[in-house]
Amino acid sequence: MKLYAIFGNPVAHSISPTIHNYAFSKLGFNGCYTKILVEDGARLRDTFLKYKLKGVNITVPHKEWAYKLADEVVGIAQEIGAVNTWIEKEGKIYAYNTDAPGFYESIKEFDFRSVLILGAGGTARAIAHYLRHKGYAPFILNRSAGHLAYFKERGFDCATWQEFTPRAFDILINTTSAGLIEEVLPAPKELLEPLMQHAKYAVDVIYNKHTPFLTLAQKHGLITKDGTEMLLYQGVLAFEIFTDFAYKKEQIAALMRRSLQLLTS
Ligand SMILES: NC(=O)c1ccc[n+]([C@@H]2O[C@H](COP(=O)([O-])OP(=O)(O)OC[C@H]3O[C@@H](n4cnc5c(N)ncnc54)[C@H](OP(=O)(O)O)[C@@H]3O)[C@@H](O)[C@H]2O)c1
Repeated sequence: MKLYAIFGNPVAHSISPTIHNYAFSKLGFNGCYTKILVEDGARLRDTFLKYKLKGVNITVPHKEWAYKLADEVVGIAQEIGAVNTWIEKEGKIYAYNTDAPGFYESIKEFDFRSVLILGAGGTARAIAHYLRHKGYAPFILNRSAGHLAYFKERGFDCATWQEFTPRAFDILINTTSAGLIEEVLPAPKELLEPLMQHAKYAVDVIYNKHTPFLTLAQKHGLITKDGTEMLLYQGVLAFEIFTDFAYKKEQIAALMRRSLQLLTS
C-alpha cells in the first residue's frame, strides 16, 4: 500500500484525508492518506522519509520550506517559490504547486479579461503568477506596502489602498483572510463599491463561509464563488500526481465533490 499525508501546523482541521481516501477507495487504488503535524518546516523532508511516504500535500505555514527542501520543483511552482505537493519517484522528491492551477480551474468557466487581486500574501502570489502565465495581467491591491514589494520587483501593477484609484475590472478576487474569522471586508467599502459597479464576478478563496465580500458583491449583482472549488481542484490535481495520472480528472473531481457533500450533509 502507498502512504500519503498532509503536513501542516495546525493540521487537525484538514479535510484532505477525507477527499483523498474517498477517491482511493472508490477507484480501488491501494493508498491511504493521513494527517501529520509538522511543527518545524525544516523537518519536512526527514518526516517524509521517516514514514516512507509516497506523496504529501503541504499546507500553512510550510509551503516555502517545501519548495526549498524538494529535489526538483516542477513547472509554474519555480516562479511562485512555494509548493503544496510532493511525490517520491526513484528516491527523489518532486514538488508541485496545485493551488494556483486549482484556483484557475475553479474560475475558467468565467468570461473575463481584466483581473483585480485583493491581498498580497502567499495565495495572491500563486494566483498572480498563474494568471500571468495564462496571459492575464492581474492588478494587486493590498492594505499595506510591505507585501507589495515582491510584486513590484516582478513587474506586476500594484497599489496600496491609499494609492489606488478605482477603475473597471471584470473579476475581483479576494485572497486576503479578511472575512475568515471576523466579519470584515478585504478593503474599505468606498473602494470596493465602485469596483463592484463595473465587475462581473467576485471570487473569494475562503471556503465554507459566505464572507462579507461575497455578500456585498451579490448586493451589486455580481456572479460570486467561494473557495470550495479551488480546494477541490487543488486536491484533484494533487491526486493525479499521486496516482501518476491513471484516472480522469472529471472522475476524481466527481468523487471528491461527493465526499465533500457527505462531509457537510
Ligand atoms: N480555497 C483554498 O483552497 C485555499 C488555498 C490556500 C489559501 N486559502 C485561503 O487564503 C487566505 C489567505 O492565505 P495566505 O496564506 O495567502 O495568507 P497570507 O500570506 O498571510 O496573506 C494575507 C494577506 O491578507 C491581507 N489581510 C489580512 N487581513 C486583512 C484584513 N483584515 N484586511 C485587509 N487585508 C488583510 C494581508 O495584508 P497585509 O500585507 O497588509 O498584512 C496579506 O496581503 C486564507 O483565508 C486561506 O484560508 C484558501
